[in-house]
Order: sequence, then structure tokens, then C-alpha cells
Amino acid sequence: MFRYQQLAQELQQQIEQGQYACGDRLPGVRELAKRRTLSVSTVVASYRQLEADGYLQANSRSGYVVKARYQPPPLSSALVPKSVVPSIVSSQQMALTLSKAAADPAYMALGAAVPALTFLPQHALHKALQQVMKTEPTRLMRYEASRGAPELRMQIARRMALHGAVVSPEQVIITNGCQEALMLSLKAVTEPGDVIVIESPAFYGLLQALEAAGLQALALPTDAQNGMAPEVLQQALEQWPVKACVLIANYSNPLGSLMPASNKKRIAAMLGERGIALIEDDTYGDLGFAATRPASCLALTPQQDIFYCSTFSKTLSPDLRLGWVIAPKHTAKLEYLKFISNISTAALPQLAVARLLQHGQYERHLRQVRQQYQAAITRISSSIGRLFPAGTRVSQPQGGFVLWVELPAGVDGYVLAQQAQAEKISIAPGSIFSPTPARQKPLFSNFIRLNCAVVQDARLERALQTLAQLCHSQLDAIT
Ligand SMILES: Cc1ncc(COP(=O)(O)O)c(C=O)c1O
Repeated sequence: MFRYQQLAQELQQQIEQGQYACGDRLPGVRELAKRRTLSVSTVVASYRQLEADGYLQANSRSGYVVKARYQPPPLSSALVPKSVVPSIVSSQQMALTLSKAAADPAYMALGAAVPALTFLPQHALHKALQQVMKTEPTRLMRYEASRGAPELRMQIARRMALHGAVVSPEQVIITNGCQEALMLSLKAVTEPGDVIVIESPAFYGLLQALEAAGLQALALPTDAQNGMAPEVLQQALEQWPVKACVLIANYSNPLGSLMPASNKKRIAAMLGERGIALIEDDTYGDLGFAATRPASCLALTPQQDIFYCSTFSKTLSPDLRLGWVIAPKHTAKLEYLKFISNISTAALPQLAVARLLQHGQYERHLRQVRQQYQAAITRISSSIGRLFPAGTRVSQPQGGFVLWVELPAGVDGYVLAQQAQAEKISIAPGSIFSPTPARQKPLFSNFIRLNCAVVQDARLERALQTLAQLCHSQLDAIT
């Protein structure tokens, strides 16, 4: 990063934290250059960047002043469901298109929730992988145990205990990402055709898992701030023969909601009383913006029947394909299901990640990346406020790195995604976060989800401008 970019980033943070309010004048160029022992041209370049990003306005008399920034309004609360019915899941092909675009550098990858390289600890990870290859050559020439490498299971159990979930390494089963953890958990407690409660909007990878297992989704409207409401769940449980409930209680995808601890306890108890398994997806639990990590349902209610699933995909690298599942009441079954699915997960990534955990590099990286994700979310949501049509609403996630955007009625998210694809921009249309088959009128047709873990540069600003322009054109075509 150049010096002027560093300075621009610092000033941007000060503006976002309210140290400079709207209309405030920033220090004069010469004055700041002198105070920071920088060249005048460096200060000018950083002020110009902030001006281009919409933070500052050049004023001929008073220099650079902070611009009024339009923050988009938050999403409205979830509606209480009137007639939610279970449905078979299908039509998840669009998700495959997003996954391909995320791997194609020609695309501005705002679709799949995949962090750009700059958010990942490349150097530390490469070093750890090399060390493992050097020190454990024979270990990499056989099948690893189906449960996973003992070194990694030990580190995961230790870390879980630090956050209140006391589990033994024996109870940790390593999987190929959280996706496999979810699939094994569903397989352990369901038969094809069973009804599974999920959040609505739902993470589309979960919908794929339900589609693959032939399960029915009962998608319950979920609050953008607090996640699924216990009252909404209770009503559904009284009406339908539910077999399991899958929740992303910590920073859900796509809403970014955080369920209060009291609701986690109530929901876990409610499911426990009825003998219904709770499958907890804690993919984003380590990526909160607050100082303390929220507790998992497993930590709060260890006596309940919980499958805790998580991953290193969003913190270290998705290509490690490294996740884990802990369900103290089902360890033997999960181990067997893992074995008959694909024998084991490769040892190389497991041993490398065990090293990162052991030497504190994982925690160090988290401290840094959580701030980067928060800054990216703030920046993109204010760009949306500035550029998108009036009436656009945006989620206010408390962790993670995705934004759920409600476009004004009349803008079709699926059409927008197709138009954006032609401009080499990938976005996730809202309709793929619903199990409703494409033939019926999909839910969330005027929503999109944006991945904010992308390089924060001029290319991003141009992509947001293009998306905003496409929305305006769709609205113009109606009137
Ligand atoms: C909520 C959630 N769960 C699970 C996954 C899958 O993670 P993995 O790459 O570890 O399989 C994702 C990835 O986007 C996710 O967002």
C-alpha cells in the first residue's frame, strides 16, 4: 500500500468513527504534511482519493470538508409468517455460476462469499504448509484418520473451550469444509422427505445440502438484527413434524444477524423438549465486529442435542477445505458417515492449520481481518447509500462480510444479476436464498447479496456505479 493510501485509510476511519463530522474541515494540506512529515503531494493524493470515494468535498474557500454521507436505511423487521409450508428444494444452478465467477479474475466477484487474497494470511499459511511438508513427509503418504489429525482436533477443542464449549478432541470430526459438516449432520438425523426448519433468507449452500439429501425446507422469516424469533419457531413446531433445525445464530448469511444469548437458550431448550436436533452453523462466529466473541448454542446449552459445524474457509482460506463438526451425542455415527462419504480429509492442510493455531497466528490474523471486514462493510454500504436509487435498504451486519440489499420494488435482482454478468460483475440474486422453485414466484426477487471481502479500490467503485446504473435503468423502464 502506498503512503497516500495509508493516510487516506486513516482519515477515512476517523470520518467513519465520527472524529470528523459532516461539514468539518480537514487540516490544510501543508499543515498536515508538516505534522505528519509527509510531502504535500502525498497529502493531496490522499485527499483526492477520499474525494473520489465520496468522503470529502473540495471547497475553494475552506479546503477539504467532510461530505454529507447518505447511509441507506436498514431493512425492515421480518414479518410473522402467516402460512409458511415446507417445500422440496430445487434450482440451485445459479449458485454454481457464482462459484465459477469467484474463481475467474475477469469478474468483479461480489457474488459468492469468498474473501479476496488481501484478507487472507497468505504468508503464514504458505510457511506452515512448507514446514509440514519438510517435517512430516511420510505422514502425507497415507490416509489420515477419518476423524481427522489429532493435532488439529486438539487445537480446535482447546479453542472451543476458550469460548465456553468444553469438548474433548475425541469429539471433533474434521470435514471438507463446513458444507460437509452440514451434510453429515443432516445425514445423521434425517431421512429423505423429512422437514427441516431453516432461516429465511437462507444460506444457499444449505439449500444445496437439503436438495442433495431430498429434504423439505420450512423456511421461517428471520429478523435482520436478532435472527430467528423463538415465537416464530414455536408456532412452526406446533404445526409441522420437524426433524431438525439449522441455524446460523452468529452473523447469519445473508442477513448478518446475531441472535441474543437468551434466544439461543430458549430455542435450544424448545427443540430439546421435542427431541429435535439443532444443527448450528458457526461459520462466521470468529468474525464479529465487537470486542468479544458471541457464545455458540453449544457453549450455552451443552446438555442439548446440538451439531456444531464450523470452518476455516472465511478466516484462513476456502481452498483448505477444512471444517469440523462436534455433536457429543453422535460422534461415532459422524465418524462412520465421514468414512463412508470420502474416507478422510487430507493431512497437509490439517497439520498446517494446527500449527497456525498452536503458535497464535490464527488469533493474530483474526484481530486484523475482523477490522478489515468491518471497514469493507461500512465502505460498501455507504457507497450503496450514495449511488443506488432512493428506497434501497441495506442490512447492518454485526459480523461477517456480506451485505443483504433490498432494492426498490420494481427492480428484479435476478435480471440485475444477468445484466451485471454481461459487465463481468457477479452478484448473488435474492431468489437463490429461498427454497421456492424457480417456476413459482420466488421470494426476495428484489434483493441481492454482495460479498464485501473484495479489494477496496477504484474497480470496486466502478462496479458499484454500474450496478446502481442498472437499477436506475430498470426503474426508468417501468415509468
Ligand atoms: C453460512 C455458511 N456455512 C457454510 C459455508 C460453507 O463453507 P465451507 O467453504 O467451509 O464448506 C459457507 C460458505 O459460504 C457459509 O457462508
